[in-house]
Amino acid sequence: MESCLPPEILTEIPGPRSRELAARLKKSESRNVTFVSSEFPVFWERAEGGNVWDVDGNRYVDLTSAFGVATMGFSHGSIRSALEKQAGKLWHAMGDVHPTESKVLLCERLAALTYGRIGMDARVVLCSSGFEAVEAAMMTAHLATGRSRFLAFHGGYHGLGFGARDATGWGFFRDPMRRILAETVDFVAYPGCEHCPLEPYRKEIRNTISAREHAAVIVEPVQGRGGVIIPPHGFLRMLREECDRTRTLLIFDEIFTGFWRTGFFLACDAEGIMPDLLCLGKALGGGFPISACVGQREVMDAWPESRGEALHTSTHLGNPLGCAMALAALEIMGNDDFLRKLRKLSEVVKQEMQRLTNCFQNVGVRGRGLFWAINPDRTLKSSSVGISQELMLRGLKSGYLLLQAGQAGEVISLSPPVTLSKTIFTQFTENLIQVYKEIASN
Ligand SMILES: Cc1ncc(COP(=O)(O)O)c(C=O)c1O
Repeated sequence: MESCLPPEILTEIPGPRSRELAARLKKSESRNVTFVSSEFPVFWERAEGGNVWDVDGNRYVDLTSAFGVATMGFSHGSIRSALEKQAGKLWHAMGDVHPTESKVLLCERLAALTYGRIGMDARVVLCSSGFEAVEAAMMTAHLATGRSRFLAFHGGYHGLGFGARDATGWGFFRDPMRRILAETVDFVAYPGCEHCPLEPYRKEIRNTISAREHAAVIVEPVQGRGGVIIPPHGFLRMLREECDRTRTLLIFDEIFTGFWRTGFFLACDAEGIMPDLLCLGKALGGGFPISACVGQREVMDAWPESRGEALHTSTHLGNPLGCAMALAALEIMGNDDFLRKLRKLSEVVKQEMQRLTNCFQNVGVRGRGLFWAINPDRTLKSSSVGISQELMLRGLKSGYLLLQAGQAGEVISLSPPVTLSKTIFTQFTENLIQVYKEIASN
């Protein structure tokens, strides 16, 4: 099987089986969860490499890595073997009471890959979802500093637990829950472009941050769901300086950007700046829901030593399937073949994005590595939402899985797996150009 085949559409999209499942889902799942319309969604049946097949037999090219998780492609042979081997032995242990060797290995590996590589000692808290890793970091910062407020950024997304939602800078997620959130977060502006001058941002942070009150600054080194927004070089250094000046901790939420998504192992490697606490998830588990908060030892040692009852834990912490899959995923991400593919595809994506902007004056693109956003009309902020949605739906009908991003869904985001070939990605751009021309002429 090739690592990615071109799309093959056999039925109208969504096909009859997808439509039937959508109708049934509407009667059983909370109406808030899955967006169901006459055009959306398609139900997945299986996936391999860079392809997904739906229940009607249509084959898609995945340009999302399924929310940035399947960076090395679906059903990767070594992750599958690790899963099968572990499944043959043990699926569940007692994470904080009687754990497995795989938990030891994963904690060791994560510490070595993050702080260990700069000669620092680290400690790890394993969790299941990204938001839990964020909340573990927030709780750590509180214990380590004794302070109770956080500084976060407009447009930042950290997940939807109570603490993580509180730090998420989107009114959409915060406002309906405001009265039950702790409201411990102050928000400042995130630089909206790669070439913005830094000083106004530093000034706002200086005016907001309080050495008595703020436990930590929490930030995505590249805002992901906010629309793949890349801050200017020097932004992370500036944050480090402001945090050091006020003895505030610095948390990098690399749940989306970690594990090579932006062409660096961690997005913060672009500036060579390390935080005090690091949140990891998504690609970590190769498809298994596992995440981690990794921190410098002195900071993490603010947690009391467990004497039989952990102050923070969960039932599935250190699940053996998850640890085995994560170890396999980290192994793949460390090998030369993966890195070669990543660099090659990143170069192709960059060139193709340039081609798009050469074809259409109004199209804006931004990104790094395998993480990009396409703004279909950078001159129109609100009406580009409709165009993005149309591009996403037309893409789906042509066999390309895409996501909208940005607080209003104003951009199309691309986070493809490394398994895509140059030919497949170029075909996608051709398709996009064609569709865009059709939309623009209407
Ligand atoms: C930067 C970032 N942090 C946290 C999260 C939350 O992760 P999860 O949905 O696994 O809770 C996400 C999810 O998209 C994310 O992009």
